[in-house]
Amino acid sequence: MKPVNVGLLGLGTVGGGTFNVLRRNAQEIARRAGRGIEIGVAAARDYDPARLPGIGDIRVLDDAFEVVEDPAVDIVVELIGGYSPARELVLKAIDNGKHVVTANKALIALHGNEIFAAAQEKGVMVAFEAAVAGGIPIIKAVREGLAANRIDWIAGIINGTGNFILTEMRDKGRDFADVLAEAQALGYAEADPTFDVEGIDAAHKLTILASIAFGVPLQFDKVYTEGIGRITRDDVAFAGELGYRIKHLGITRRTDSGIELRVHPTLIPERRLIANVDGVMNAVLVQADAVGPTLYYGAGAGAEPTASAVVADIVDVVRTLTADPENRVPHLAFQPDALSDLPILAMDEVETSYYLRMCAVDRPGVLADVTRLLGDRGISIEAMIQKEPAEGVQEVPIILLTRRVREAQMNEAIEKIEALDSIDGAVTRIRMEHLDSS
Ligand code: HSE
Repeated sequence: MKPVNVGLLGLGTVGGGTFNVLRRNAQEIARRAGRGIEIGVAAARDYDPARLPGIGDIRVLDDAFEVVEDPAVDIVVELIGGYSPARELVLKAIDNGKHVVTANKALIALHGNEIFAAAQEKGVMVAFEAAVAGGIPIIKAVREGLAANRIDWIAGIINGTGNFILTEMRDKGRDFADVLAEAQALGYAEADPTFDVEGIDAAHKLTILASIAFGVPLQFDKVYTEGIGRITRDDVAFAGELGYRIKHLGITRRTDSGIELRVHPTLIPERRLIANVDGVMNAVLVQADAVGPTLYYGAGAGAEPTASAVVADIVDVVRTLTADPENRVPHLAFQPDALSDLPILAMDEVETSYYLRMCAVDRPGVLADVTRLLGDRGISIEAMIQKEPAEGVQEVPIILLTRRVREAQMNEAIEKIEALDSIDGAVTRIRMEHLDSS
């Protein structure tokens, strides 16, 4: 059978990895796909031929639009990233009847509803396994492997750069900026690394996970997002004393009143497997009713781990080229006419436990004032640390762990605590999840 012709957009970290994996494993991949897969043409403005042995055998164009217009191309693989021109290229490819594979989480999170509707109309596939958690086949696992289940919640470390930074800070006491520079040099970070540090990249991925878990449209604009920039070494150390690790988690949960969709630093018990996922590795914990908890672990970024997911998608597309479009796996796991309109909850309505750190003047009654303000709002305390003041210092850090409470009540309590004369500066609040099977 004639090989399938791939048009590759982008020869950067992931594009280069995809080129190399497709060539190196060509025979093994063809045995799986049922026919050969060839890159007929690529588009890239800037690339390093030394990293791409054999690149001289194919046409490399400057203009990506020429690739999506090329009648010989069957599958367009979009690895340029960003919103534009990726959106225009993908929509054009679909319009031209081509299948699309993309690693672009920003594109799917923001424009996926439009893209999937266009693909549905044209009867083509848009595959995006590499958009979430790099090399971990989490889309396939949730969309197909867990299709029997009602999914309750998903919690994941889904940004490799952020996890690498937190791990290096905790284990080696390294400086934030220095670790970030290393993550950039290793090709883990986004073109704009604030996407990693501020949680935007994780929010893109969480948006996608929530849609395929609960069968709701993609709603990136409703994700609550908080970055890792304000986590101090003290917080990491205090959390450790209390038996917790701080991880930057994406969490989505189905509740009776709607869906939680949030990315923020989170204390998790250190006995949980996911608390021990370090460096650039990602992990996604899925709680579902029939199977219970399942955990998926692997490299969340990097050239070949991400290429592994891209190439798996290409193989999937090739295998289904002859399948009737109506019989394919739906883009968002649920049939397009069966999506639910469950609302996304505002952060004020989310219920969770908290780690609070505050700086208190060392005098009688301060702790009583703080606990009264919490107690008045029904917030009970689970654990506490109060350190002795250092020699000659009048202020002491107080650390409290609370039980679950609505965010709105905690906001009110924090405002009152910060207004006390005996409390200096802002209260640091980090949300806490036990991630048990409920
Ligand atoms: N910048 C992303 C990360 C790349 O660090 O996870 C993979 O999506």
